[in-house]
Amino acid sequence: MSRRLEGRVAVITGAASGIGAATAKTFIEQGARVVLGDIQEDAGASIAATLGGARHAIFRHCNVTAEAEVEALVEAAVSEFGQIDVMFNCAGIVGAVGPMSTMPADEWKLTIDIMVHGVFYGMKHASRHMKVAGKGSIISMSSTAGVMGGLGPHAYTAAKHAVVGMTKNLAAEVGRFGVRVNCIAPSGMATPMVADVMTGDHQKLDETIAALADASPLKGRAGLAQDVANAAMWLASEESGYTSGMTLTVDAGYTTGSRVEPPAFAEYQPMIREAGRSGID
Ligand SMILES: NC(=O)c1ccc[n+]([C@@H]2O[C@H](COP(=O)([O-])OP(=O)(O)OC[C@H]3O[C@@H](n4cnc5c(N)ncnc54)[C@H](O)[C@@H]3O)[C@@H](O)[C@H]2O)c1
Repeated sequence: MSRRLEGRVAVITGAASGIGAATAKTFIEQGARVVLGDIQEDAGASIAATLGGARHAIFRHCNVTAEAEVEALVEAAVSEFGQIDVMFNCAGIVGAVGPMSTMPADEWKLTIDIMVHGVFYGMKHASRHMKVAGKGSIISMSSTAGVMGGLGPHAYTAAKHAVVGMTKNLAAEVGRFGVRVNCIAPSGMATPMVADVMTGDHQKLDETIAALADASPLKGRAGLAQDVANAAMWLASEESGYTSGMTLTVDAGYTTGSRVEPPAFAEYQPMIREAGRSGID
């Protein structure tokens, strides 16, 4: 089978770690050239170097809270590689935590700034080029906390719900230009972000994988950064060419009802009829 992203050019924010880094590697393996953006300069530059250097991957400092830096990242794709076919808005943080009643407003605002305004800047500048080109795929990171309440901190949940709405609305605007817009909603995946929350050490990925596997609705299977990278690859490729406005959950079925413990209907029981009666007779 030919490589799925042959000849494509992608921009990825938050590409120095976790899901963004795994996606950059996957996109390049599938034939794309990638512009990686992040605030972690050493890690980002080193990942770009390991992905084949300037012919395949370039790193640029990009703080997604600064519109000019996101615009420059998109322009780097056009100036260095000639085009932008895929925009992956992946940068994110856990952000403000704790009760809303005590949440400092500046922590709330920074969380929203990174994961709502940062996604807006990426959507804005990528769609500007893609509308002219008449094609393109914009992918953004939501979360299971973006489709259900009670799964994440308040500001994170607000931001990830916003990404779902922005995805649907931009898809409605740019479909007529041949541009597709989707987002991905993973549950807890084994990345430095989640390792930090679960173990207090962002490098403890093995311990995180073991804990996630124990709590997974899919027997013994933890979610990995690669699972999200594979979803992003599909959304970036023509294989998803008739899919737009969608929120693709990558959560082992959690948001559709799957749990570790068996559901009430897991064992046969006589059917339940009018109150007080059961069975066929
Ligand atoms: N890991 C999960 O379980 C999970 C689940 C659902 C959604 N997500 C989302 O996936 C995305 C990636 O998360 P991850 O788990 O790979 O985390 P991660 O911490 O491994 O990577 C996040 C990256 O974003 C970068 N970043 C943070 N603030 C930035 C800013 N202002 N400008 C540019 N880059 C910035 C970080 O430097 C880091 O490299 C996030 O948007 C996150 O909310 C993750």
